[in-house]
Amino acid sequence: MIRTIKQSKTMKDLNDYRKSYEKGELWETNIPEDPINLFNRWFHEAEDLGREEEVNAMTVSTIGLDGFPKARVVLMKQYTYEGFIFYTNYNSEKGKAIANNPNLCLSFFWHTMERQVIIKGVAEKTSENISDGYFESRPDGSKLGAIVSNQSEVIPSRNFLEDNLKQLEKDFEGKEIKRPDFWGGFLVKPVEVEFWQGRPNRLHDRIRYKLQEDYSWKMDRLSP
Ligand SMILES: Cc1cc2nc3c(=O)[nH]c(=O)nc-3n(C[C@H](O)[C@H](O)[C@H](O)COP(=O)(O)O)c2cc1C
Repeated sequence: MIRTIKQSKTMKDLNDYRKSYEKGELWETNIPEDPINLFNRWFHEAEDLGREEEVNAMTVSTIGLDGFPKARVVLMKQYTYEGFIFYTNYNSEKGKAIANNPNLCLSFFWHTMERQVIIKGVAEKTSENISDGYFESRPDGSKLGAIVSNQSEVIPSRNFLEDNLKQLEKDFEGKEIKRPDFWGGFLVKPVEVEFWQGRPNRLHDRIRYKLQEDYSWKMDRLSP
């Protein structure tokens, strides 16, 4: 159902928000054959600049069971040549979406570098070992927080959550907190990786890598 509103007054006009992007350039002659190597270079550059609050924050977009795309921020916890890993509740809205359709999109916006990376990929659950290892590394508060939250379910109140957490703290006092089955990692294996570098006059650089049948990467420049 779509809401129709008869009178719509402008609440804020943003036409004058304008910025020239001048911090970098992306040349075919200066980039690696494997996009993960370029991702790694950009990640370190964003990290080294030290001005990104959470350089590993990425937007994960899924196609939901309702047919709508949905994007939300999660924290990337590892990347390798195989792909990108984040952790979540497998029963959450995104978990159910991924179980139904593992094709998803990850995106990073590193505004201090005027850079964006967009990754299309296919998600699969990480092995139990990997999920256990990461869960184990979390502080107890985060472990219990993961257990207590039926992520994306409707709850009656904030108190409901806090009371359940207090109860869990008592139940687990002095005991080992094990990873629940409904919580773990997703590894997103990339099939397409696009690098965007802001440039003046909106003539931005866009380089897209597409995975080929022989597992090599084809690189193309896209019009901004
Ligand atoms: C900076 C930031 C980091 C987040 N990190 C995670 C994360 O690593 N895992 C996660 O499940 N949710 C994380 N969230 C919460 C998600 O954005 C989202 O609210 C939650 O996963 C439920 O999404 P869903 O109902 O679409 O499944 C983070 C949110 C923000 C703003």
